[in-house]
Amino acid sequence: MDTWHFVHVSDIQPGSKRSFRYNPRYDENWQTARRQIMQLQPELMVIGGDITRDGSIHDFEFEEMKASLDSMSIPYHAIPGNMDTGNKHTDKQGPKPERDDIGLNVTSEQLRRYSRFFGEFPWSFVHRNVRFSGFYAALAGSGLPEEEQMWQWLDDLKHLPRARHHVMTNHYALFIDDPDEPNFDITKQESYQAWYFGINQPYRQRIFETYKAAHVEIVFSGHIHCQRPEQIVDGMRFYKSPATAMAQFADRWEDGDPKLGFYHCRVTDDHIEVSFVPLKKESTATGGWGKGGHIKPEDRDYSLAQQS
Ligand SMILES: [Fe+2]
Repeated sequence: MDTWHFVHVSDIQPGSKRSFRYNPRYDENWQTARRQIMQLQPELMVIGGDITRDGSIHDFEFEEMKASLDSMSIPYHAIPGNMDTGNKHTDKQGPKPERDDIGLNVTSEQLRRYSRFFGEFPWSFVHRNVRFSGFYAALAGSGLPEEEQMWQWLDDLKHLPRARHHVMTNHYALFIDDPDEPNFDITKQESYQAWYFGINQPYRQRIFETYKAAHVEIVFSGHIHCQRPEQIVDGMRFYKSPATAMAQFADRWEDGDPKLGFYHCRVTDDHIEVSFVPLKKESTATGGWGKGGHIKPEDRDYSLAQQS
């Protein structure tokens, strides 16, 4: 049987010493993941977004990560995450005073900047009879011209030639607990994170129906930084992926696993086996500078940033 393998890696966001903030743990963890992926020698690498920590602000973070990925000599296909291009759209402010949710909405300019470095998206291609597709669902409800293009792309996806398997890559999770859950309220402290990590109705249902019509078999999402065991819904296998940078949302689910790492996927004619590969060492490096989270521009202090 002709078997081959690929890697899915997400939420890398090592940051940069040239930024207003830097955490050496994130950077060291990416170097560890990078070495482990290169040792596996996959045929290709799918990247689920948040390639950068603040690429939505700094070109130099895109430049540094593009150089890091290109030098691995593994063909890769990437979708953006919110740290690369801006957040899921909202017209309501959340409960955190230090965070301007509406100001963080994804913009066309940020999307164009991403594409300058990592190419056009959405994308869908066939490799060895496996269709791989990726797009940025956080555009749903934005009203941006790119949102209309996204819906058109999703409609077209249903009519593309069918391959043996279909693997979808998202940054945001299509749902937090199950596809029928109600929308979470951005304005409430207790539901803010769940709002932040998932896709709202009615967009979730429209995307879900498209996946079924396009014979999607596996859906990877990132953004949450906490794995869960595979969830099978209407025959589709949903994976909430680990991050390489750091863990989040670890207390949400009893079966959540905040370990850092990536997925190694072995493809046979009739199955894709998805295995978690933990980082050989999670960094405990200290040092670094700057505030975490989505802070306002006036809270970005570049005085500790290194020039190169
Ligand atoms: Fe994210």
